[in-house]
Amino acid sequence: MTTNPVNIYEYEAIAKERLAQGEYDFIAGAATDEITLRRTRAVFDSIMMKPRMMVDVSQRDLSTTVLGNKIDFPVMLDPAGNHGAAHPDGELATAKAAGAMNTIMALSSHASRTLEDVAEVATGPLWFQYYFFKDRELTLDMAKRAEDAGYSALCVTLDAKIKPKRERNLRNNYVGSVSPNYAHLDLSTHTWKFGADAPAGPSDIRDPASTWEDLDWLAANTKLPVVVKGIMVGEDGRQSAEHGAKGVIVSNHGARYLDTTLATIEVLPEVVEAVDGRIEVYMDGGIRRGSDIFKALALGARAVLVGRPLFWGLAVDGENGVLSVLEMLRDELDATMGMCGRTTIDSIDMSTITTVSPLLSLFPQPDSFR
Ligand SMILES: Cc1cc2nc3c(=O)[nH]c(=O)nc-3n(C[C@H](O)[C@H](O)[C@H](O)COP(=O)(O)O)c2cc1C
Repeated sequence: MTTNPVNIYEYEAIAKERLAQGEYDFIAGAATDEITLRRTRAVFDSIMMKPRMMVDVSQRDLSTTVLGNKIDFPVMLDPAGNHGAAHPDGELATAKAAGAMNTIMALSSHASRTLEDVAEVATGPLWFQYYFFKDRELTLDMAKRAEDAGYSALCVTLDAKIKPKRERNLRNNYVGSVSPNYAHLDLSTHTWKFGADAPAGPSDIRDPASTWEDLDWLAANTKLPVVVKGIMVGEDGRQSAEHGAKGVIVSNHGARYLDTTLATIEVLPEVVEAVDGRIEVYMDGGIRRGSDIFKALALGARAVLVGRPLFWGLAVDGENGVLSVLEMLRDELDATMGMCGRTTIDSIDMSTITTVSPLLSLFPQPDSFR
């Protein structure tokens, strides 16, 4: 068995040994053939760094701001359901780790703890993530709960209207639990289309009919800034900016809904260009190394978020495990910046990376490839 993990992959290996197979597969898995899941890592690994020498890198500042909140490094905690599956302290542990690292945690409405209980122990800013519900009263009621509990933003996930097909869960007969955030609802009439694959919550109350006008409506009816999650096309980034969002997360839900989409890092530049500085752009999906964060920043993200690594940290060592996973990402980013001659987050630009091998020009392709 792996001990003393030195990177996030080793955290995952230990977590896999400790978690029941159904839980591990629920967390690690993705939709249908998991093609996008694999592509995501392959694309990150194909982006190469261009290190610069003789720059004074003795002082490096990793801090940035997100919606006006200063964070110590450009990594936030993705919303993900049921941290209680990985550790009994669940989101209470995760929130404490986020606060200790001076960054923002987005709490999933499918959390194993109520949004109020998590707010009570949190020492840093929290976002509350949820969906457009068919019941608009419920949509506003949950926004109000988040406002009252002191959350600093709403994160509305747009890419989870339709039930995904996750074959690992089907094979394992995986059944999730219902979050206490939904405890007051009668869920007896809500069923999934693809069998026993429920995550920790009532997806059938989500509204597949929601459109950009609903975003206008929500933005006008909450005191909190609204960030939308699940943008994969520039035009949708532009629409988000025009319909009241203050930020977008370029995300494909960790490849857990629609398979064979592009990797998020591939579509990030298109969204950044379309949004054109009007609102903030973040990204998630496959961030496992500090160099991945660097690449996302180089391609225009203001900050990144991580999902699965939180579960691996929790499963290995609860709050300390999450802390250590976040520290690893921070320290690897710090080292990458130093070696690339960059000392601030703002100075990381596209000139620091490439995807084209200079060897290509030395070996001309046959005419038929042109
Ligand atoms: C177990 C699990 C549960 C998730 N639950 C939610 C959720 O409740 N709401 C949401 O918007 N995204 C959810 N996500 C997606 C994450 O927010 C994020 O988009 C994705 O995990 C990023 O990719 P990464 O895991 O490679 O970092 C979940 C992801 C995982 C792995």
